[in-house]
Amino acid sequence: MVRKAVIPAAGLGTRLLSATKELPKEMLPIFFRDSNGEIYLKPMLQVLFEQLYKFGFREFCFIVGRGKRAVEDHFTPDYSFLDLLEKKGKEKFVRSLKEFYLMIERSTIIWINQPEPLGFGHAVYLSKSFVRDEPFLVAAGDTCIVSNNLHHIKELIDKHSEGTVVTLLIQEVEDPREYGVIITNEKNDIIKVVEKPKEIISNLAILPMYVFEPVIFNAIEATKKGYGNEIQLTDAIQKIIDWGLKVNYVTLPKDAIRLDIGTASYYYDALIKSYNNKIF
Ligand code: UTP
Repeated sequence: MVRKAVIPAAGLGTRLLSATKELPKEMLPIFFRDSNGEIYLKPMLQVLFEQLYKFGFREFCFIVGRGKRAVEDHFTPDYSFLDLLEKKGKEKFVRSLKEFYLMIERSTIIWINQPEPLGFGHAVYLSKSFVRDEPFLVAAGDTCIVSNNLHHIKELIDKHSEGTVVTLLIQEVEDPREYGVIITNEKNDIIKVVEKPKEIISNLAILPMYVFEPVIFNAIEATKKGYGNEIQLTDAIQKIIDWGLKVNYVTLPKDAIRLDIGTASYYYDALIKSYNNKIF
């Protein structure tokens, strides 16, 4: 069973400057439609947290860095603010915030500081004492996937339970140079993973949601700085392959929508898609 979720949200977000000078990019809002079709603006990180909560996760570890206070403050229930909203007759927002507060209160949330953005792999490594000896899910705080009944998470976890050490979520993309990619053999087994390849060596991009066995921490320890002079999670996954351990993957379901806010144009796309989305 996978009970723990690690959410790295400590990157600099330089590709979204100057919006991200003080505000962590994971706090940028996307649209969210509730089951009645009401539309709200919610920070990406809140949407991701609420999805994982609805799926059944109750133990969360956020890796935070610069602008950490904005994130922690957001995840701190403030009932006097709700009283104020109630007096002003803002029932819709009171309802939505109350639901969020309840989810926070019914969860265990651990905050880990990454003082320097040494890379995605390094951020995941910092969750070692939280994870201990269990399999765990990693979901980057700047991406959120929407699918019917969150079945992309279920498929990922089901595949992992078949006995793999690392399970990846893959999507076919035209230009993979912004992503990590997998290279497979004729049996569709992964033989190699490469972070931000210079050439189009594969169209199978690794999305930032994974399930790992704790041995990934040993692999990260053994990983040297890679792309961008940072400790890359993809390089640690390559170590797992080199060690002869099983890395498997599931493909993003057809109905799923990927909301990514890494760059200004991805963010524009995420706003349009989240506004028009009918799956929430
Ligand atoms: P990115 O690869 O998009 O990097 O991070 P970034 O530093 O945030 O953004 P740019 O490249 O400067 O624009 C993917 C996810 O990993 C987290 C980020 O917060 C984001 O959710 N991350 C990245 C960390 O937590 N720590 C790091 O050192 C790097």
